[in-house]
Amino acid sequence: MVSMAVVSVLQLPTGLHDRVFIFVTTVCLLALRYRTRSKHKFNSSSFSKVSTEPEGLTIPYVDNEGETDKFDWHSHWYPVMALCDLDKKVPNAKKILGIDVVVWWDRNEKKWQVFEDKCPHRLAPLSEGRIDQWGRLQCVYHGWCFNGSGDCKVIPQAPPDGPPVNASKKACVAVYPTIEQNQILWFWPNSAYQYNDIAANEKPPYIPELDDPSYYPPTISTRDIPYGYEVLIENLMDPSHVPYAHYGIMTWPSDESSLADREGGRPMEITVQTLDTNGFFAKEEAGYSKFSLPCLFYFVREFGPSNGSAPSGSIKEEPLENLRQRRMLLIFMCVPVSPGNSRLISLFPVNYGPIVPPRWVAHLGQNLVIDSDLYLLHMQEHKINNAGPSNWQNVTFVPTKADAMVIAFRKWLRKYSGGQVDWGTKFSGYLPPTPPKEQLLDRYRSHVLNCSSCRKALKGLKALQVTLQVISASIVIAAAMKQDVMSMAAKVVMVSAAMLFFAVSKWLSHFIYKNFYFRDYNHALSKKKWISLFFINISSPSRSK
Ligand SMILES: *[C@@H]1O[C@H](CO)[C@@H](O)[C@H](O)[C@H]1NC(C)=O
Ligand SMILES: *[C@@H]1O[C@H](CO)[C@@H](O)[C@H](O)[C@H]1NC(C)=O
Ligand SMILES: *[C@@H]1O[C@H](CO)[C@@H](O)[C@H](O)[C@H]1NC(C)=O
Ligand SMILES: *[C@@H]1O[C@H](CO)[C@@H](O)[C@H](O)[C@H]1NC(C)=O
Ligand SMILES: *[C@@H]1O[C@H](CO)[C@@H](O)[C@H](O)[C@H]1NC(C)=O
Ligand code: FES
Repeated sequence: MVSMAVVSVLQLPTGLHDRVFIFVTTVCLLALRYRTRSKHKFNSSSFSKVSTEPEGLTIPYVDNEGETDKFDWHSHWYPVMALCDLDKKVPNAKKILGIDVVVWWDRNEKKWQVFEDKCPHRLAPLSEGRIDQWGRLQCVYHGWCFNGSGDCKVIPQAPPDGPPVNASKKACVAVYPTIEQNQILWFWPNSAYQYNDIAANEKPPYIPELDDPSYYPPTISTRDIPYGYEVLIENLMDPSHVPYAHYGIMTWPSDESSLADREGGRPMEITVQTLDTNGFFAKEEAGYSKFSLPCLFYFVREFGPSNGSAPSGSIKEEPLENLRQRRMLLIFMCVPVSPGNSRLISLFPVNYGPIVPPRWVAHLGQNLVIDSDLYLLHMQEHKINNAGPSNWQNVTFVPTKADAMVIAFRKWLRKYSGGQVDWGTKFSGYLPPTPPKEQLLDRYRSHVLNCSSCRKALKGLKALQVTLQVISASIVIAAAMKQDVMSMAAKVVMVSAAMLFFAVSKWLSHFIYKNFYFRDYNHALSKKKWISLFFINISSPSRSK
């Protein structure tokens, strides 16, 4: 059924491809997460009796002994970056868990190195440096050079016959352990000696589907986000916001008679089944979710014949050879960056459907979805923070099972980590002030700049735009030079052609601005996009003819 939608999109006139494609692919991947088969009538009277923790919303704990059961944020692997987005030619800067790191390609060791982004000399950022001709990381303030172990190989200012000051421990840069797994570079946020070999003993959470050739290679996407890790995780664990916050860009048909409103929210049956220091497992009507601390949250939807208990998709009309179990994973890695800032790395592997769109096209849709609730979440975080991080339960009212995972996460956070990320000694707990919307939703810095595919696409589209303008101008010039010898009809054709090229280049410039730089998002005025016609095809093939 998803395939039918994508195929029907392919038959559209070319100009419409991009936009339709973006929406449909995003929706194929994301929307199904929310699709449930329940047809309960909304019954408001059931709300009147509940307290903040209604019956049936009990969150289980698997308790070990009390005090030792604190979560240690600094002894877990953190995803740094998708390998395909790292540039081997230059040092790459990142902030993770409040730590400034520089990621650089060590061609002597043939591996990515993650160093503290601080030169031991006078603390200039090494990420502004360069890789020297011997493949070492050079600080460009005074030229000190470091090898892959963080040892200082050159202090240009030290006389060759003087004492080997570079051999001092104080001349070394802190080196963090790293590992590559699932096409992602991970680092261990503790450079202490005893963790040097941590990669041999402990691995980041592994997702076999990401290396399984029967799944489409997912278009991994990274976005820097101007609200914190806690609010980001909460948002991803909360399927009931989808029809409202993403109204018109993520939607699908449902039984109209069972809906309370135009957008189509409904009761959701979500049960958290186990919860301990390392995370939780939850069952939803449409599938199950797993939260593996600190960063990984994923949702799995299975549909097809081989698993009797799985929710069924409408696959009856498919040819027989397609009757294998279809699986879709929505994988989110949420990286704490600093208070009020986080990073989202997302991957959506599926083992069905005909095509994967180009990576930058998929990113247009994914970024739009992130934009649509970004401002809400940024403002929400400031209110939560004003109340104090451990008071979430006091200041919110979460009476339905739709919020079960959010409640479980907040309970976990309060119980195992004092209600917030442990930043070590780095931050005071204040949030940065709210910048203007143009900066909050700045897509260029938060995504395009650090995404190899979107950077290339932007360059290509800009070149195309200039080309169109040049063609338009050349036609005008040609027409002006030959105006005496041309018939009226020829003049009209040429002027129209020039105008057409000019109009397309204008449209393209608008498209570039909205998709690579900034797009404001107005929920009050957002309408169901005409594109949602195609969504009807997505989940009910019977209605599509
Ligand atoms: C709503 O729930 C209440 C109590 O749970 C029940 O008495 C009532 O009949 C229900 N109303 C509808 C319309 O289902
Ligand atoms: C991302 O962009 C910033 C510039 O804002 C740059 O300093 C950094 O090195 C880039 N990181 C990567 C991994 O490309
Ligand atoms: C870096 O230099 C030190 C000191 O000379 C040496 O022991 C170490 O093996 C070197 N590391 C690499 C990765 O070359
Ligand atoms: C110190 O510098 C010298 C000369 O540049 C080099 O041979 C030596 O390996 C360096 N020492 C360390 C510990 O890297
Ligand atoms: C929050 O609620 C808990 C128990 O419900 C109570 O003990 C605590 O004092 C409350 N905190 C504030 C700041 O109101
Ligand atoms: S600060 Fe790096 S060489 Fe001086």
